[in-house]
Amino acid sequence: MCGIFAYCNFLVEKDRRTICDVLCNGLQRLEYRGYDSAGIGIDGDGKDEIVLFKEVGKVAGLRKLVNSSSINMSKTFVSQVSIAHTRWATHGPPSPINCHPLRSDPKHAFIVVHNGIVTNAGELRLVLQKRGYKFESETDTEAVAILLKYAYDSQQGKSVTFTALVKAVLKELEGSFAFVIKSTHYPNEIVTARRGSPLLIGVKTQKKLKVDFVDVENPGLDETKADPLSPVALNSTTAGGLLAVPNAATNAKLLRSQSRAFMSEDGMPQPIEFFIASDASAVIEHTKRVLYLEDDDIAHIADGELHIHRLRKNEDGHPITAGQAAATRSIETLELELAEIMKGNFDHFMQKEIYEQPESVVNTMRGRVNFDNHQVTLGGLRNYLPIIRRGRRIVFSGCGTSYHSCIATRAIFEELTEIPVSVELASDFLDRKTPIFRDDICVFLSQSGETADTILAMRYCLERGALCLGVVNTVGSTISRETHCGVHINAGPEIGVASTKAYTSQFIALLMIALVLSEDRISLTERRNQIIDGLHALPAQLTKVLAGDNALQQLATGTLASSRSLLILGRGLQYATCLEGALKIKEISYMHSEGILAGELKHGPLALIDENMPVIIIMTRDSLYPKVQSAFAQITARKAQPIVICNEDDEGIPKDVRTIRVPKTVDCLQGLLNIVPLQLLSYHLAINNGFDVDFPRNLAKSVTTE
Ligand code: F6R
Repeated sequence: MCGIFAYCNFLVEKDRRTICDVLCNGLQRLEYRGYDSAGIGIDGDGKDEIVLFKEVGKVAGLRKLVNSSSINMSKTFVSQVSIAHTRWATHGPPSPINCHPLRSDPKHAFIVVHNGIVTNAGELRLVLQKRGYKFESETDTEAVAILLKYAYDSQQGKSVTFTALVKAVLKELEGSFAFVIKSTHYPNEIVTARRGSPLLIGVKTQKKLKVDFVDVENPGLDETKADPLSPVALNSTTAGGLLAVPNAATNAKLLRSQSRAFMSEDGMPQPIEFFIASDASAVIEHTKRVLYLEDDDIAHIADGELHIHRLRKNEDGHPITAGQAAATRSIETLELELAEIMKGNFDHFMQKEIYEQPESVVNTMRGRVNFDNHQVTLGGLRNYLPIIRRGRRIVFSGCGTSYHSCIATRAIFEELTEIPVSVELASDFLDRKTPIFRDDICVFLSQSGETADTILAMRYCLERGALCLGVVNTVGSTISRETHCGVHINAGPEIGVASTKAYTSQFIALLMIALVLSEDRISLTERRNQIIDGLHALPAQLTKVLAGDNALQQLATGTLASSRSLLILGRGLQYATCLEGALKIKEISYMHSEGILAGELKHGPLALIDENMPVIIIMTRDSLYPKVQSAFAQITARKAQPIVICNEDDEGIPKDVRTIRVPKTVDCLQGLLNIVPLQLLSYHLAINNGFDVDFPRNLAKSVTTE
């Protein structure tokens, strides 16, 4: 939720037009994270001047605003830093005033872009207002900008480094955040920090970078140069001690952190560019060399150097968050290609991603499933298999589509492993105080690897000593870094807000885990071989399902075009398909849709059925087919005219019934084929209604707030 981007160039001359283009292009790549409003903060013409551009709506509108302004676009900058943001509103509706960057004051002493929620912003606001500071927005972020100004003002002219100032302010904040901060007091410097929301820094330079370790307690480092915030009497009971900065004696403890510097190997100033972003898709067109920040990292960029500091301890010596205090920060090379994050010949990312599935499922299995000898190998789990096999139970957890992939595979997982599996909504995990034990195996499913609810559930389980596995798409994401072990689903970047190819790849990843765990069960050999053969045939079968797209488009523009509601019925292994299909339909076509377990029909939902209620019923052949037939009979007896998803050779469906035919596969894989017509149908329903498929209203792709 919310996309952050920043661009810094040192000794690389750029004109203002290019800088604004870099910022807007970066935002456009992050737009899937929120698209209520967008803004940038760049250097103005005068010394110590910052100019903000803000526009409600998508980045295209912001770009237009910038291009139509009277600002001199050909002015060049040899070194500069600028920040940008695309918003998914949490505090305050989308409006120019609530749009980021938020400023501390009309002179822009500090401007801030933020992803996350500062939960004590209300208290901070009250305290700052009491001290005479004026607020103009309804956002939580503004309190941070003003708190920075307050901290700066309270130095009364004494020198303080930008990093020290930010550190003091961060210690006052509760909640989750990724920030990038620019200031007229610190021209050509930028500070960025995270706790709970993702951030990475792309580095573009010709020279080799040296990674240098320095201890901040060592005299001569920037924080110790300046006396950080003096112990001004500002403690406030309402704000829990606003900037209760320790005195000089305890400062050393406050600063007990480390700094890592990334600078040129020869130590000479060098042309260099940095790109700060919420995810890799925004930097890939500039550089593949990136560094992922961890929780409580504070990165300071100035004079072409990048220093990373840790806000590691509270005054009581306890870690500030459960985030990793990882000892190393290295520059990694992204494996992402620009083409992967472009739409290519498709009209929408969602459409492209649906059509990519024959290929993305192969990528999930590549190098892992050997179809000749029916073996499955998962390197990311190798060292943990004995512990997993000894586990008392397995707990799957995720949100939305990721949760549905857990439901889809639970039965086959239990069948193959003979370990009980429970499936938990990550958003309910903490609320319910789910009992978790040391011998539990907890598996966290997340496309982004950054979903706040799932991260909190994961940390809850880590704290209770359970073995935690991540099943994620995004390499380098928080869940992939903080779990003990796991599997990357390798579906490639998923940009459309509605998750499609990640679902099928998560499904396969869970299945592969079950296949690995059951490899020594002789009695299951035939079943395992059947599943592995089924996986082999899957890409071609998916291609066949996709070939039925025209018929689904007709259904969306014809029979279902004016429907206001749609029920999707199924049972057993297809229940997850019903839930996932209904989620797709509601989130992008805004049509009410409900996935219903067919066995539950007579316990209530049957009351909804009449000749006007559109129903899709999943009747592909498996052991529950007779039971689904009876659900079919129950609804047709109430004059419903269901559309049936069935196998291509099924002669048992009455001739006058409308069907969507899909190839037959092994029962536990059938959901992988059955979901595709529902993905396509949701896509066409949305297009037919003129909705923006890749940017459904009120949603964002990566839900980094609770
Ligand atoms: C639905 C959808 C969401 C996500 C959910 C979890 O199409 O995309 O329901 O599945 O927000 O996101 P991840 O998988 O990134 O944790």
